[in-house]
Amino acid sequence: MVSRVIPVDDFDLVIFGGTGDLARRKILPGLYRRFCAGQMPDGARIIGAARTDYDTDGYRQFIREAIEEFSEKNDCGPERIDAFLHRLDYVAIDAKGTGGWPVLAQKVRRNVINAFYFSVGPSLFGDIAERLHAYDITDDDSRIVVEKPFGRDLASARQLNAVLAAHFDESQIYRIDHYLGKETVQNLMAVRFGNILFEPLWNAQFVDHIQITVAETVGVGGRGEYYDKSGAMRDMVQNHLMQLLCLIAMEPPSRFDPDAVRDEKLKVIRALEPVDLHHLVRGQYEADGDSPSYREEAGDPRSRTESFIAMRCHISNWRWAGTPFYLRTGKRMRARTSEIAVVFKDAPHSIFGADAGRHANVLSIRLQPNEGITLKVTIKEPGPGGMRLIDVPLDMSFADALGDEAEDIPDAYERLIMDVIRGNQTLFMRGDEVEAAWAWTDPVIESWERRHDVPKPYEQGSTGPEDAAVMMHRDGRRWREIKV
Ligand code: BG6
Repeated sequence: MVSRVIPVDDFDLVIFGGTGDLARRKILPGLYRRFCAGQMPDGARIIGAARTDYDTDGYRQFIREAIEEFSEKNDCGPERIDAFLHRLDYVAIDAKGTGGWPVLAQKVRRNVINAFYFSVGPSLFGDIAERLHAYDITDDDSRIVVEKPFGRDLASARQLNAVLAAHFDESQIYRIDHYLGKETVQNLMAVRFGNILFEPLWNAQFVDHIQITVAETVGVGGRGEYYDKSGAMRDMVQNHLMQLLCLIAMEPPSRFDPDAVRDEKLKVIRALEPVDLHHLVRGQYEADGDSPSYREEAGDPRSRTESFIAMRCHISNWRWAGTPFYLRTGKRMRARTSEIAVVFKDAPHSIFGADAGRHANVLSIRLQPNEGITLKVTIKEPGPGGMRLIDVPLDMSFADALGDEAEDIPDAYERLIMDVIRGNQTLFMRGDEVEAAWAWTDPVIESWERRHDVPKPYEQGSTGPEDAAVMMHRDGRRWREIKV
């Protein structure tokens, strides 16, 4: 199978923070891969803008090294790197002053799509937005892209939304949550709304519970300073896990278009019940041999920030009343696994008798690694000796099912940047969604801050603190295994 690449229109993409970590690791290698895939029109240009005093050649060299370091897949060869780098330009800019802005104003073309990626801390959003406007660089068709963290609570998110809204319409603002760009996350919508099979069962009557796990093996490493002010709740739950929860729980939108999808997601967030703290466990990883503890990495021996969180949530609406959603995420865990599992109820009555055993169907949607979908079904154990039931997986791994095409699946950033150029906001968060998510997480964070809550220690390479397992046992359930 040959993957279908739909070219986009000509564009100028300006990357503020063009020398930063995200630009080096994700944005530019991602654009390079889209270039290799033939998706970039001949006239498309990328303009890095940052404080460093590079000339264009210096910036091209800097990006060449980044691509060599971070783009191992779909590499289209040394000559093509040159051709790609030729698209790059650079402007040294002072985000808070006047330096560089007139030059940028001259470089950005008005007769093509123009997009501005704010790959900078949120404290600069206002300064940059203001100057783009003051120097007449943007117009009503320009697009801006902003990254998480989008605020650290409801008040700051509102403020950021207001700062951006002063110069841009909501239809111009692309708030990235890179989880929405992951192939399987979108596939989740295809599975739900492209098949008649699941939707009739997708409710409290047939679903026992849903588990969403995002386990990482990495620690906070060099990001300790940022992370210690965030913790797993702000860094992962408020955005990535919340988005997964929305997609799994939302009502079918009438169309796959930005506002129809985002309206439905927003309804889910607004229907979330306040979290009951008896069903929430926070953890922090301990030292392990040479591997430092969370507190050492965060540089604060008394830090109370969580590197793990497990919680039970409820959605108050007709579809989900009574069905628990269990969320779990953590760093330095046993394996890198992200999975959404829909655990169905047992069949209402077993005609085979108690000895045959009973097994619940489970639909597991794997985000990483080995992206794919597995449906666990019950069959008869082969052989004589009566009816004994066992589980077997109906397994669809993208790599097996799609062969080479799976290799070419663009990574989340590649897809999302191309969606910005196409002007498609479906996979981006709307301002009201982000605010609603903070409105739900704020009281929880405030409550443990008020009580000086101390996270439970957990071993590196484990599945988190014992209390997380106990929380599930109390409900008569167990977490899905995190397989190495
Ligand atoms: C980021 C978080 O948004 O997502 C990181 O800030 C986290 O802490 C990362 O490691 C996980 O992303 P992925 O794509 O590797 O699962």
